[in-house]
Amino acid sequence: MVGTAILGTTGYTGQETLDRVLAHPQLDVVALGSDSLAGLPAAALDVRLNGDLPPFITNQEALEAGAELVFLCLPHEEAAAVEPPSGATVVDLSGGHRLSAELYPAWYGWEHPRPGELEGWCYALPELWPPDSALVASPGCYATAALLALGPLAHAVDRAGVVVDAKSGVSGAGRGLAASSHAGFVLENVSAYAIGSHRHTPEIAAALGFPVCFVPHVVPVRRGLLVTCYARAIDDTLRERLEEAYGDSQVVRLLSAGVAPELGRVQGCDAAEIALYEDRATGTAIVICALDNLGKGAAGQAVQNANLALGFEETAGLRLAGVLV
Ligand SMILES: NC(=O)c1ccc[n+]([C@@H]2O[C@H](COP(=O)([O-])OP(=O)(O)OC[C@H]3O[C@@H](n4cnc5c(N)ncnc54)[C@H](OP(=O)(O)O)[C@@H]3O)[C@@H](O)[C@H]2O)c1
Repeated sequence: MVGTAILGTTGYTGQETLDRVLAHPQLDVVALGSDSLAGLPAAALDVRLNGDLPPFITNQEALEAGAELVFLCLPHEEAAAVEPPSGATVVDLSGGHRLSAELYPAWYGWEHPRPGELEGWCYALPELWPPDSALVASPGCYATAALLALGPLAHAVDRAGVVVDAKSGVSGAGRGLAASSHAGFVLENVSAYAIGSHRHTPEIAAALGFPVCFVPHVVPVRRGLLVTCYARAIDDTLRERLEEAYGDSQVVRLLSAGVAPELGRVQGCDAAEIALYEDRATGTAIVICALDNLGKGAAGQAVQNANLALGFEETAGLRLAGVLV
């Protein structure tokens, strides 16, 4: 068993990560980090958690608890400041290690606290760029969907003018209180935000090799995310490329022609759905990807990355049963 620590356990992604670690046959929770619940039993987070789990300790104590695998479910700047324990596999769900240092002031608003160490982290999306080091930066939720849709097509589309229109449920913003995530704002509403300036834009550009125009929207659902990508094909290999990328995947399902992805089929699980269409009027290629922002967009992918980094079965601990069968 691999001793596992989770930092920021009380957050949305921390809770989802804990759920998958508990379902994992080779991972054992040795430290539950939480600055807000330190000193309290695990049941203080959820009454379904029982005495088999260790009590909460601070995030720093959890980092130093000797775990072989550490999940960082922290805000970006807190994760960026973490000193990885020697020899441990660390999977960061935040944006703290996804970009090169010079991009942080412009996109995140702060200087990276450990710029010299960023090269040691790999940006890993399992189906396209599996982890190749023990320090793993998991992609953002929107970036995951956009890259699953466009990554295999990067050499088959006109790189100028690719547009990614995205919609996410409100859990994408985390559990912190903000006027923009109050029920009174979100319910019966759809709003665009971070228009032309969302933090996932540079990681999408770095992974694809060209920038895209990306606009996210929040829609009145708790969880789930759907991106609709528009691009001009330069050849007729798009479906073939997607089939090649996902034909053997247990996580990403390329839908048959004419079948559209739906949030309802991916909410609460770690799978993603992709569909390819062609606009009859303009010939524009339309690639749609749906996933759960807390599943494939966060905790599911983090555990998938950990599995690959540790040499385990890729889908161990993931929530896929009943989804793709
Ligand atoms: N929500 C998503 O859909 C999603 C998807 C992909 C990636 N992410 C990324 O994953 C990370 C965690 O996201 P989340 O949605 O789980 O966030 P969240 O619900 O806001 O939880 C973050 C947790 O971090 C801990 N924390 C430690 N220092 C903190 C501080 N100074 N301020 C606030 N919280 C602090 C808190 O847990 P303790 O009190 O237990 O320490 C808090 O509950 C973020 O970097 C986010 O961008 C989120």
